[in-house]
Amino acid sequence: MNKALLEIAYLIASITFVFGLKLMGNPKSARKGNLIAAGGMTVAILGTLIFHDQPVSPVIYAVILAAIALGTVGGWLTAKKVAMTKMPELVSLFNGMGGACAALISIIEYPNLKEQPGALIAVLAGLVIGTVSFTGSMVAFAKLNGSLNKAIRLPSYNIINTAMMLVVIGLAAMMVISGSFNTSMMLYVLLALAAVYGILFVIPIGGADMPVVISLLNSFTGLAAASGGFLYDNKAMLTGGILVGSAGTLLTIVMCEAMNRPLSNVIFGAFGGGSGGGSGASEGGTVKDIQVSDLAVLMNYSRKVVIVPGYGLAVAQAQHVIHEIELLLESRGVEVKYAIHPVAGRMPGHMNVLLAESNVEYDKLVEMEDINPEFATTDVVLIVGANDVVNPAAKTDPSSPIYGMPILEVEQASHVIVNKRSMNAGYAGIDNPLFYSTKTSMLFGDAKSALTALANELKSL
Ligand code: TAP
Repeated sequence: MNKALLEIAYLIASITFVFGLKLMGNPKSARKGNLIAAGGMTVAILGTLIFHDQPVSPVIYAVILAAIALGTVGGWLTAKKVAMTKMPELVSLFNGMGGACAALISIIEYPNLKEQPGALIAVLAGLVIGTVSFTGSMVAFAKLNGSLNKAIRLPSYNIINTAMMLVVIGLAAMMVISGSFNTSMMLYVLLALAAVYGILFVIPIGGADMPVVISLLNSFTGLAAASGGFLYDNKAMLTGGILVGSAGTLLTIVMCEAMNRPLSNVIFGAFGGGSGGGSGASEGGTVKDIQVSDLAVLMNYSRKVVIVPGYGLAVAQAQHVIHEIELLLESRGVEVKYAIHPVAGRMPGHMNVLLAESNVEYDKLVEMEDINPEFATTDVVLIVGANDVVNPAAKTDPSSPIYGMPILEVEQASHVIVNKRSMNAGYAGIDNPLFYSTKTSMLFGDAKSALTALANELKSL
């Protein structure tokens, strides 16, 4: 009876995970999706505590409940307090904890299951993948919070890393195949090697590529958790692990496609190295700039304005003032939309999250495929702290590192205004011919100060 009830609890949890993930596909329903999936997880945890068939002492119950309470309070407080821009750091930290849990399960279950080859494969897979995910995520966390702000590359690091990976897989395979290797000592050697491999895997990768790496590590954690699901024949763990694994893999692929870079280039390519982003200055040509007062008049008398937010908008924290400008323009009868490039900023959905913070309506955020045909009928495009995502070299220059990346085709509009602080390059570290176009005017300055001045001018008209 208890077993059947436990299976029902796990089935409910699995269904809520799938349903919750579906709802997370849209910003409007994402919060609800998250709550539903969390509710499902609660059912699975309560089901396990109530309907398990093992004798458990009250002390163990107390330890489990204390751990749950600690995790809940810690997780809740951190997630509540964290600034939106620190979200990738938080995700890498939480992800690392998931990997560590999977590895700990393997360490505990190894002595019980080491004589069963099928179970041993799951134990070692959980150990290796979970450990790589843990140490890799910790390096990613340190890179994102700036305490490790250099891409450290050993000479021939690709060869060293590949050799290390083969050693780890080889040792794990030997432990499954040969009884003499299958000892506790070897388990700890494997653990240490996997930990070092996780560090070596992430350390050469540039800080700005961390969102892609975290998404990949997230898929590793999912696989490690799924191995635990196999071990315990736990359907909720299995479904959850597989969903995390496949969602992480899909997100990694989507991000790479949107940047038009194969995953191998992110991992081995040393692109966007350093702490995040290129620092090269633009190379030349004549640019013209525009005064805030002239821009206010131009926008005030436009029919349609499209705002292109980018990384600089997030850096300047100018999301509230851009929303204010949007409302001011709308009150004058101007149609305003936002053009959202899939990899604008530095994390998936960065611009959506940023603009949601200032209560921009979701339906004003228009995806790249849908907004591109609209630029031809747009009077003014206002680009705020975006660079690579509007670089026409992606279409015209086969030698450009971003050649082939789909971009926002802003040059179709009548006027293009670019707000940034200097002629410095963006993340890809390359010049942007858009800035020298006869249609383009530069509004130099920090996004928050420049847009605040623009809002004030608009109010005075
Ligand atoms: P970028 O190409 O990085 O350009 C951002 C621009 O913002 C810079 O040129 C900078 O110029 C300007 N800026 C910085 N601080 C500013 C401030 N306070 N006020 C005004 N401007 C400021 O950004 P993007 O167009 O959003 O493109 C994103 C890039 O990141 C792409 O290459 C993408 O492939 C990459 N990437 C994205 C992701 C995800 S998932 N979104 C993940 C990894 C990599 P100044 O210094 O002159 O001000």
